[in-house]
Amino acid sequence: MSGAIYPSLRGRLVVITGGGSGIGAGLTEAFARQGARVVFMDIAIAESEALAAELAHLDPAPIFHNCDLTQVAALQTCMAEIAAEHGPVEVLINNAANDDRHSLAEVTPDYWDDRMAVNLRHMYFAAQSAAPAMQAAGKGVILNLGSISWHLGLPDLSLYETAKAGIEGMTRALARELGADGVRVACIVPGNVKTPRQMKWYTPEGEAEIVAAQCLKGRIEPRDVAALALFLASDDARFITGHEYFVDAGWR
Ligand SMILES: NC(=O)c1ccc[n+]([C@@H]2O[C@H](COP(=O)([O-])OP(=O)(O)OC[C@H]3O[C@@H](n4cnc5c(N)ncnc54)[C@H](O)[C@@H]3O)[C@@H](O)[C@H]2O)c1
Repeated sequence: MSGAIYPSLRGRLVVITGGGSGIGAGLTEAFARQGARVVFMDIAIAESEALAAELAHLDPAPIFHNCDLTQVAALQTCMAEIAAEHGPVEVLINNAANDDRHSLAEVTPDYWDDRMAVNLRHMYFAAQSAAPAMQAAGKGVILNLGSISWHLGLPDLSLYETAKAGIEGMTRALARELGADGVRVACIVPGNVKTPRQMKWYTPEGEAEIVAAQCLKGRIEPRDVAALALFLASDDARFITGHEYFVDAGWR
């Protein structure tokens, strides 16, 4: 598939959380192919190193940082190291998440905290780390990955859906707070995207059910989400902020 080229993304410093696999890997590759300077954080070391090796021929090649985003101090240290080494972060893509299933009855206060830490909290603190330099520059973009799950009320995902609903509220709040300084904040809401992890949850029959419920009859791939992210991160989207945008093939 040939995609659009955004001249404004060339050379831009783009930090992607969870950029080592799934949709994140699609984002890492897509931004690197635009000539952006991509740094991605992940805990999946093997997948991330394999991706970095696969894309090593690109100039500049994406750089992998091993960081557990649930540890806020480690995240803050990593963001500071990236800025010290590469300069101010110009685009932050808050992508990392974990959609483990559970019932209401199983949830303990510790598990609540754990799910919010992996699905919501790091996005806020990554934005907090990146924002001052963006505000000083009078421009910058923060993209948060939401989810269609809570819009549809999918089963067995109540904490994930709680966090993902929070991401849309956080997006609006930060867009308001940072907008006066020219920083844009938007949310991308994927439908069901065919990734290695999703294939763990769905049988062929389950996949067929999703496709049947979509307006468009195909499987969304990471590159389809990346195509929207490239546009939103580029200067072409200069007046787009504070809202969420779906890539869901019309899943209802
Ligand atoms: N795939 C889908 O169908 C779908 C649907 C709706 C929303 N989303 C959202 O899109 C984003 C990407 O989804 P995905 O399907 O690629 O997910 P995924 O689980 O396949 O990948 C998530 C990545 O984040 C990393 N990660 C998880 N916990 C981490 C931690 N503590 N520290 C550092 N890295 C960590 C993982 O190692 C992995 O590389 C997520 O925000 C997800 O909620 C995905």
